[in-house]
Amino acid sequence: MTAQSDICNFQHRPIAVFDSGVGGISVLKHIHALLPNEQLLYVADSKYAPYGNKTAAEIQARCFEIADFLIEKNAKALVVACNTATAAAIDVLREKYTLPIIGMEPAVKPAAEASKNGIIGVLATIGTLKSAQFAGLLESYGRNVKVVTQACVGLVECIERGELNADATKALIKHYCAPLLAEGADTIVLGCTHYPFVRQLIEQVVGSQVALIDTGAAVAKHLKQQLQAHNLLSNNQQSAAVQFWTNSEIENAAQVIELMWGAKANISMLSPDVALTS
Ligand code: DGL
Repeated sequence: MTAQSDICNFQHRPIAVFDSGVGGISVLKHIHALLPNEQLLYVADSKYAPYGNKTAAEIQARCFEIADFLIEKNAKALVVACNTATAAAIDVLREKYTLPIIGMEPAVKPAAEASKNGIIGVLATIGTLKSAQFAGLLESYGRNVKVVTQACVGLVECIERGELNADATKALIKHYCAPLLAEGADTIVLGCTHYPFVRQLIEQVVGSQVALIDTGAAVAKHLKQQLQAHNLLSNNQQSAAVQFWTNSEIENAAQVIELMWGAKANISMLSPDVALTS
């Protein structure tokens, strides 16, 4: 086999994306929109969601298991589409595996730059807000603004059940946004990949004067740059397939994934490897 064909083989391999559940599909959509010719694999680790209240060691163990599964499926790059898992595990993942690994963090920097009154709010999980990575973010980009943080316990579970418009979901959002509004935040960071799926509800609660910022588009752009830098961008001319795996134990797991993805999807159970849809 020639060196050139080796490169081609690498380029045609899929990009793998995972999250504690369906939240990372908000990032996957940006990746698919920017790189429609790339084959994508997505794992929703819903059985173990939420990651937000797990220890770093527990999250790292989940990340290793999922990364092994996706690398076995021939992934050429790995996207950790989860702020909580990135904070807990990105360093150990990069130590263990050699493929490019892209993580994500709450958009404190862009929010600090966009805020007009210098008060920003951050909605995220407990795990993200308590992490050393987040402390570092505040240290680097939060010095000249007031940053009001709020852990949204229970919100990921509502989204995992597909309850995007339920009264209970809206009540939780009201409860969690109230302290940010009381402090006068004019910009709110959606610091968990599940939250873009309730963006409309959040908008209704905080009003149109408050800007909402999430990182999905930036992650997709960064992934593209990394693939380019490693000579891994596919030159496939056709729109490529997206394959989902879940270990969710809820009855309507496939419908929830399709609700988030916005279309019919190929979904299998993570273990055993059984198709949920065809
Ligand atoms: N979607 C994840 C994040 O971006 C984590 C949600 C959870 O499992 O707690 O932080």
